[in-house]
Formats: sequence, C-alpha cells, structure tokens
Amino acid sequence: MKSKEIRQLFCNQFLKNGHDKISSSSLVPHNDPTLLFNNAGMNQFKDYFTGKAKPSNRRAVTVQKCVRAGGKHNDLENVGFTARHHTFFEMLGNFSFGDYFKKDAIHFAWELLTKELQIPKDKLYVTVFRTDDEAIDIWHKQEGVPLDRIIRRDEKDNFWEMGDIGPCGPCSEIFVDHGEKYATSNFKPVGNQTFLDDETRYVEIWNLVFMQYEKFYEDAATKKVKQISLPRPSIDTGAGLERVTAFIQGKYWNYDSDLFSPIINKIEAISNQSYTNTKYTSNMRVIADHIRAATMLITDGVIPSNEGRGYVLRRIIRRAIRHLRELEVKDISFHKLVPTVFDILGEEYPQNKNNASLAIKLLELEEKKFLETLDVGMKFLNQAIDNDLVSKTLPGGVAFKLYDTYGFPLDLTEVILKEKNLQLDHAGFETSMQKQKENSKKSWKGGDYAGSDKIFNELKEKFGNSEFVGYDKTKTTSKLLAKVEMGEITGLLFDSTPFYAESGGQSGDRGTISQNGFVLSNVQDTRKPIDGLFMHYSTDADALKVDESYELEITSDVRSATAKNHSATHLLQAALIQVLGSHIKQAGSLVTNEKLRFDFAHHESISKEKLKEIENLVNAKIQESISVQTKVTSLDDATKLGALAFFGEKYGSSVRMLKMGDFSTELCGGTHVKNTADINHFSIISESAISSGVRRIEAITDKAAITRLMNRSNVLEEVENSFSVKSNLVLDKVNSMLTEKKELEKQINSLQDKLDNIESEKLFLNPIQLKNSVSFFDSEVDASSDLKKLGEIFASKFTNGVCILSQKADGKVNVLLRATKNMTAVDCGKILKETLPIINGKGGGRPDQAQGSGTLLNDLPKFLTEVKKIVESKI
Ligand code: SER
Repeated sequence: MKSKEIRQLFCNQFLKNGHDKISSSSLVPHNDPTLLFNNAGMNQFKDYFTGKAKPSNRRAVTVQKCVRAGGKHNDLENVGFTARHHTFFEMLGNFSFGDYFKKDAIHFAWELLTKELQIPKDKLYVTVFRTDDEAIDIWHKQEGVPLDRIIRRDEKDNFWEMGDIGPCGPCSEIFVDHGEKYATSNFKPVGNQTFLDDETRYVEIWNLVFMQYEKFYEDAATKKVKQISLPRPSIDTGAGLERVTAFIQGKYWNYDSDLFSPIINKIEAISNQSYTNTKYTSNMRVIADHIRAATMLITDGVIPSNEGRGYVLRRIIRRAIRHLRELEVKDISFHKLVPTVFDILGEEYPQNKNNASLAIKLLELEEKKFLETLDVGMKFLNQAIDNDLVSKTLPGGVAFKLYDTYGFPLDLTEVILKEKNLQLDHAGFETSMQKQKENSKKSWKGGDYAGSDKIFNELKEKFGNSEFVGYDKTKTTSKLLAKVEMGEITGLLFDSTPFYAESGGQSGDRGTISQNGFVLSNVQDTRKPIDGLFMHYSTDADALKVDESYELEITSDVRSATAKNHSATHLLQAALIQVLGSHIKQAGSLVTNEKLRFDFAHHESISKEKLKEIENLVNAKIQESISVQTKVTSLDDATKLGALAFFGEKYGSSVRMLKMGDFSTELCGGTHVKNTADINHFSIISESAISSGVRRIEAITDKAAITRLMNRSNVLEEVENSFSVKSNLVLDKVNSMLTEKKELEKQINSLQDKLDNIESEKLFLNPIQLKNSVSFFDSEVDASSDLKKLGEIFASKFTNGVCILSQKADGKVNVLLRATKNMTAVDCGKILKETLPIINGKGGGRPDQAQGSGTLLNDLPKFLTEVKKIVESKI
C-alpha cells in the first residue's frame, strides 16, 4: 500500500465515523509563545481541549505536519542514523473534544490497524499508564488483546504532555514488532524497563492520549505549574505516518519507504553515488530527512537566520549541506531536491507547494553562503590557533563562535585540531551552547501582555469574540464590558467596536471614548492579546464605568492614512511578484499611518532601475482607479482563486479575500481604501537587506509622498538657479562637472607620483649593506609623504632589501616596515608586533609589509636599532 493510500484510508475511516477533516496547521504555531514549531496534531486544538473555544464538530481527523528538531523531543545530531527519528514528519490523528473517550478511541485504533491495514494481531503490543486498569480492561475485554501483550509503564512513557504547560493526560501506545532479527543482542530490561524498550525491534506507531488535565503557570514569574481537570475528558491520538508506512511496506528503515525513496533516488542521481554503498547510506538519509524539513519550514514562512526558529532551520540546512559534501558533490545542489519533496507532499499540503520557488531560491542562497562561510571559518580557526590557545587547547567559546557564527561544524574543528596535535575544550563549548539555547528560547516569549493571558482567556470565555464594525464605520455606540488594570494602562473591552486591533502588520487604531458629547478617555492603541478579543488601551480611563454605553470614535485621519499604506502594501507585493518573480512572499510587514514596511525573501539587492519599475507599476495601478473589493469565503476557495496567504497567519474556516482588479488578491483582515485612486501617490524611500536573503522596502503614500516629491522639486529648482541651467540640462551639467573633477584628480595624482619618485630617488640612494647582500634603509620622511607608496617604490627598486620608514606627525610617529619578496625569512608583521611597544605603539600586518604608530618619540632610535637587529638576525 502506498503512503498516499494510507493517509486516505486513515482519514476515510474517521470521516465514516462522524469526524470532520481539518487541514494541517502551519509549522509555525500561531499565537502560541510556548512552542518553537508545531510538534503534534493536537497543537491547533489546544483551545478546544481546554474549553476556551468551541469546535463546530466535536470529532476531527487530521494529517498534521510536525517538526521536532532539538529540544525535548529530538536530538538533531542523531537524525539519519536511527531507523525512525525525523526532523519533519506527518502525524495522523483523530480527536474528540469532550465527545467520545477511551472505549471508542481504542476501538477505532484497533479496527483500523487490524482490519483496514491488516496488521496481524500477533505483531502488536500495547502499553497503558501504570494505574490505568480501565484501559487494560478495554484492550482485553472489548478488543480481545491477551493480557501478556498489555504492558504497564510509568509517567516517562505513558503520560503525554505537549510542553511545560498545556493539556495533558495518560496515554496508551501501540507498538509493532519488526521481528526477532532486529532484536538488540543481549538486551535486558533494567529498572522500570520492559522488553518493549528494545527499540531496535519494537516500534511505537500510535499514541492514544486520554486528555484529562491542563497544566498552566499559576504564577508566570516563578513558573509554578498547577494541574487542573479539563472540563470534559477528550481524545488526542497521533500515529507517525512514516513508521506506519514503513511497517506496512515491509521496510525496517523509514527511509526505505515511498515517503523517502524518491528523494534518495534523486540524491543518488545528483551525487552519482549509490545508496547501497554503506559509506554513503547515512549521508543520504540525513539529506533526505533534512530536505523535507527545510522545504516545509521555508514554505511555511521560516527564513534561515541566527536566532529562534530561523536558527534551527539554518542548522538543519547546514548539516545537510555538509553531508552533501561528504558525497563529494561539488555543485550547489541541495535545492534541486525541492520538487521531489513536493512530488511526495505537494498534494496533501498545496499551500506549501505554492511557495516551492521560494524554497528553491533560499536554499540555493544558503548553500552558496555556507560554502563561503567554510572558507572564512578556516581563516578564523587558523588565526585562533595562532593567538588563542591555552596550553595547546582551543577555548570552548572560540569553537562555539566558529560553530555558531560561521556555521563551522564542530567535528571539522576537532579533526583540524587533532591534525595539529591540539585539543578542544568541550566543557567550554557546551557552556556556550547552553547559553545560546537559552537565548534562542527567549526570542519567542510572547507579546507584551502575555502575563495576563489568563484574564483575557476568562474574558473571552465570558463574552465571546468582539464584534468589529470598523470596516464601514468610524464610530459606534457600545457597552463597556470589562476594564483590566495593567499598571499605567487600562485595557477596555466593548461589546462592539470600530477600532481595528493590530494584526497582519497593520497597527491598531487610536481614538476617543465619549458620553453625551464629552470625551472621557483616549484610546492610544488597540490590540488582540488573544485571538478574537479586541482590547482598547488607555491611560485615562478612570471615568469609565463597566456596563455603561459610550460613543467610540476612531481618529479618522490616522485610520485613512493607514488604509492608504495598507492598500499600497498589497499593490507593492503584486508589483514585486510581477517584476522580480513568483518567489516573492511577505516575510513581515508593518503598516502605520506614517509609512509602510514590507519584508520579503529575495536573493540579491534590487537595482535602481528595477525599483523604479516597481514604483512606477504601483503608481500606474493607483492611476487606473481600481475599485477595492472584499469577499468572505472559504480558505480552499480563496486558494483556488489564487489568493496570497500570509505566513504565520491563522485562517479560520472563513477568510476575507481582498481584491484589486486582476492585479492583487490577498487574504487580509485589514482596513483598506475603497479605490486605489485614494492612495494618490506612492514613493519608495528605501530598499535594504535585513538579514541574509531577506530584503526590506519602506515606502510612503499620499500627502507624505507628495510632500517628498515637492521637496525634491524645490531642491532641483535651487540647483537650476545656482548653475543657471534649465532643469532638463541639470544632469548634463553635473555629469560634465564630475568628468572635469575626475580629470583634475588624475592630474593631481600624477603630480604627486612625480613628487614621490623624486623623494624616493634621494631616499633610497645609500643603503646600509647587511650580510648576504641585503640592502637596508632606515629613513625618516616628511609628514605629508605616503608611507605605503614609498614602500611600494622601494619594493619595485630592490630585489634583496628591507626598509623601515618613519614619519613624525601630530605628536606621533608612524612607521612602515617593508621587505622585498624574496626576503621570506623576515616577517614584518611579527617584527613590528614585537618592537612597537618600545615606542608605546601598536600595529602589525603581512610578512612583507607592516605598519604601526607610537607615541614615545624619544625612543624612536632605540626602536629602529631593535628592528635592524632583528632583521639582521633573520637574514
Ligand atoms: N499528542 C500525542 C503525541 O504527539 C498524540 O497525538 O504523541
């Protein structure tokens, strides 16, 4: 049976039993600061289990993309070397949100495995939590599983929790037996272990979690955890598609199933090596695993970087590239595997497949950069070996910097050190690594108001989602439902509001709260601390009383300026796609009343001409006066209509699609102009890189853009006046002046050369002859002389010589030591490093040339004598 059929069979079985199929959520968890990546099918349903949100159907089935890389659930360095651990994997799962419980969950799983997938019962074992007699009864009496195949295990294995906090509960796991021949020889259970702990033979394929509890921080500061019972017992199951598929297809290694073999075949073709050659098997497995993770993460919006999620992604990519090099692949190749990944995963995850070109571009760029990095890393390591060794040991911090900043693999550092008979400070490396891990954890700690989550959740439970009426209205009358005191700020919740709450990059509305025509309070910002809850933040809300009605009015000119910038952002994205290519996807955006900022992945800087083309295209669309249409529809329909979905956004069952003619279609909840003509004018004010492969464009619209145009035109007028030329001739005039300037500079340079030559004639006339026919000069030159140039002249005149030039200027003395090419025994850099302290100086350089300066002018003769002495000793 093919993996595709297993996915289908699983879903159909549960659809038949009243479940709805819910699409996989993004690998980047939405609004969940506790998670690095989506790591289980239940993540997207957290609020259904805890009762914070209500599902439309209490039964669901999913095929969920998951990543476990580093941290609690997976050790990246082992992936590829074990038969069944992966960074990216798919989890098949059925869920009951307070509907069915243990009996049905166990029955569904057993039927599916033994009847539909026809796994022989004598190949299956189950485990239960050590005190769960009820589950044992169900497995034994209801399904007929012999008691000796039901094993009790403790918390470590049979109590599932998503992280430190969140829903959790005892679980029952189902294992398959791959057979005697895979048994670990002489395996003997120790401590609480059972025979199932022989992981090479027995493999867990399905975990049934009986969700009964929720853990949360009772006190956010001390992280004290409290456990409470869930409102209704629920079910969360997860079956690893890769493991099930491998077993059904009669394979021991997941890599030999059809979820990986097309990728392995492609790696064989690229590398011209064979998977069956044991020298290369593990390399190919690592690459096959990592290309799936890298592709799926990038196409879910993660961009390689040096922190947080991007850092984990970068490590995965670099590890894979290193293994590609071990296959002796010379060309940039990792990205070539992306299409094969989508041959396998594209049908189940069409939104990822739509972004394939982005993954190809970014991976190509990462590989190029990494190869350069290896070069730079080698240089850094050699320098560190020269300068930083502590009793023949490279400090751990230095090795970590190499690994972290230069992406230089630790094992390579060790190999190089070993060759030189040196050692590595492992403990120091681990300490630095630990620090980095803590730092990367800090970067997804959640927003400003995370500490008050509990209050907001309670408010949402009590009052439901806020009603937003601001698409059509700028004011409304509304009842104050709650006030939340947060130090200086008060959070205000109303039953309906025209205030847009910050999201999708658009900043929140400001405005006033009045009663009977009197303004009682000002709203400085509006945000959604949790999904669906609009909180208005004010510093002067004392006069407001809960349950009274007020007039809420937004500051219209701020809103309308923001709307112009937001609509212009959509035009900009469409123009970027048209001019630069379909790989352009929003990686971040900020829209305020003052300007717009748009970040996107692109491999190079954008030329001035292209930027102009983009700007002109946006302005052309503004002039076309296109009406801006919105439509609420399903995510599937919107995707079919070609709507661009933003990374990291969560889309519910219905989405708002925003269309500007045929030019732009995006999913967006923001506030916009009615017609593109309202934007008036669009000007790009900057284009820059914010990290490798990510560009940022900042732009302004309407009054700000027009004012900028006017200011520029005023400057032009002033230039016209000072040059007494008409504007159309200004450019010619400036160009001719620049040419003239260049010509003059040339003349000055050639005169200076002549002067230098005359000076050097005198300077290098009478050498001091040292042994072995070495000519030595020790000369003082004018403050205006160019030491380097004189050094060049010296080196071109002599074949066998060394000169030390000194120059007094501004109370200091500058020195240059230069040796001709064949004087290989003289290392100018080293000599100056050694001697400059005599004149309280610093400096250094290459073996053939070094420079420095010092302040003890009186000690110059002593310094010069010492330099000469060292030179003499070397020749
Ligand atoms: N949440 C459980 C797991 O990840 C079952 O889906 O194993």
